[in-house]
Amino acid sequence: MRNRNFVFLFFGICSLLMISFKSGYLQKEPWKAPASADSIKSPIAFSPQVIREGEKLYNTLCVTCHGQNGLGDGQPGRFKIEPANFHNKAVTDQKDGAIFWKLSNGKGNMPGYATALSEEKRWQLIAYIRQFAKQDLSALSKAVPVNNYKINKSTPSPYFPLPQKITNATASQEFVFMVDTVAKGLKRAWSIAFLPDQTLLIAERSGKILRFKNGKQIDTLSGNIPKSLRDIKLHPDFGKNGLIYLSYYIEPVKSAGTGGYTALMSAKLVGNKILQEKTIYKAGPFKNNGDWFGSKIGFDRMGYLFFSVGIHSDRKNAQSLSNYDGKTMRFNDDGSIPSDNPFIKTPGALPEIYSYGHRMHQGMRRDPKTGRMMVVEFGELAGDELNILKPRANYGWPIATYSLEYSGAIISESPLKEGIEPPIHHYAIAPSDFDFVYGKNYPGWDGNIFIGGLATKKLYRIVMKDDTFVRDEALLNGLGRIREVVYGPDQFLYAMTEDTGILVRLIPLQKL
Ligand code: HEC
Repeated sequence: MRNRNFVFLFFGICSLLMISFKSGYLQKEPWKAPASADSIKSPIAFSPQVIREGEKLYNTLCVTCHGQNGLGDGQPGRFKIEPANFHNKAVTDQKDGAIFWKLSNGKGNMPGYATALSEEKRWQLIAYIRQFAKQDLSALSKAVPVNNYKINKSTPSPYFPLPQKITNATASQEFVFMVDTVAKGLKRAWSIAFLPDQTLLIAERSGKILRFKNGKQIDTLSGNIPKSLRDIKLHPDFGKNGLIYLSYYIEPVKSAGTGGYTALMSAKLVGNKILQEKTIYKAGPFKNNGDWFGSKIGFDRMGYLFFSVGIHSDRKNAQSLSNYDGKTMRFNDDGSIPSDNPFIKTPGALPEIYSYGHRMHQGMRRDPKTGRMMVVEFGELAGDELNILKPRANYGWPIATYSLEYSGAIISESPLKEGIEPPIHHYAIAPSDFDFVYGKNYPGWDGNIFIGGLATKKLYRIVMKDDTFVRDEALLNGLGRIREVVYGPDQFLYAMTEDTGILVRLIPLQKL
């Protein structure tokens, strides 16, 4: 009797082991469409027009996972099974019908698009992804021979001396530039502030603020600098009053039952010390940790202080004026509420709200030419936005959005709706911050907008004309998750990564 039990147990364990071995093995099996799918034929020819339509769809829906060049490298390491690389023979060998079937049905992290996209749109996408295999991959990262170029020494930078020799030269659509690494080893660096005394501050998430002068780190600021530090901005009159503004997150303490807050601090910078710290605003309490950002600070031309608070709880909260989620706030520089704020007389509304219906506005800048305040928002799948801030405006999250659920399901029937401010541009890059380039230092880039991509690890140059998107170009391929983009007072464009911890400057090169 005892022996029989033992034998049963033995066989039981063996079969369990075999099942788990087999399923582990099955997961690595290539994804196969049913043989019948091979005979599905496209009702439309893959004309250049169809391919272009497919490209647009791809860049809004697929790029975050499959990557700009179809290499499956949109978010390395995020998925257990990496998104397909469309250059691979395993994909190119399949019939269009099989690819169509997979795109329609999905599997695991690959959303099925049968309901979200019409058949015609799905075929446009297939027409486009078939083009990747024709790309010359070696051309994507082709270095430019540097001996034909020189650095223009007539625009020196007081922050970081110009390099002696050219390295890392790459071509953009307009000219050749050098990617000049000016700082390395940064730890989760989030934001940069250029000071008028020609030093530069870099804020790291841990609560450290590094100071650089003439290309070297000279100090770390002292004082009560908050942890979970995010943005750092100077008061418009910093030269006179020495005021700086920091945003940060006060993490919830679960054991004490206290919530988290997205907070804003003003302080005075005296020498290397942060003095007179004042928490001038706290949005919350929120029950979640601080991964839901926003937290961007901006000043308009009149000196009003703007602050973005991302969605922390239920997404529907973005549409209610009685809570903090998904709002832009406006204050006087001391944190008091301006008497002409748009909802100050609206019963039940928080008086600090300036605009609402945002998801997570992770970039905020004033356009130095027009004076308009602009934000970039991190959408859900494919719904990132570039918006112009207007008082009282509703930016639509989640009732009118280009975003899809990460599963591919629809969030709102239409991205457009009466009374909702549409984005001036929408895209899919998981954006961070952005800035404007004006002037002659970068030939052909005057007036362009540069947005950092987190998931895509690229810097995007956006060409707009009268608030309409014209075209874009991806730069700094693979540098890292670009968290901060600043056009410095030295007229150089800087980009900083949070994972690889580097700060680079783009130096335009002149042909000899
Ligand atoms: C959220 C991430 C994600 C998005 C968005 C996404 N995919 Fe995928 N895709 C994947 C993953 C992961 C796989 C691999 C699935 C597997 O093999 O189990 C995949 C596989 C595929 C395949 C199958 C390739 C093969 O034969 O193995 C095709 C085709 C495809 N994706 C096309 C698209 C297109 C077109 C879009 C945009 C409309 C898109 N995907 C959007 C994650 C994504």
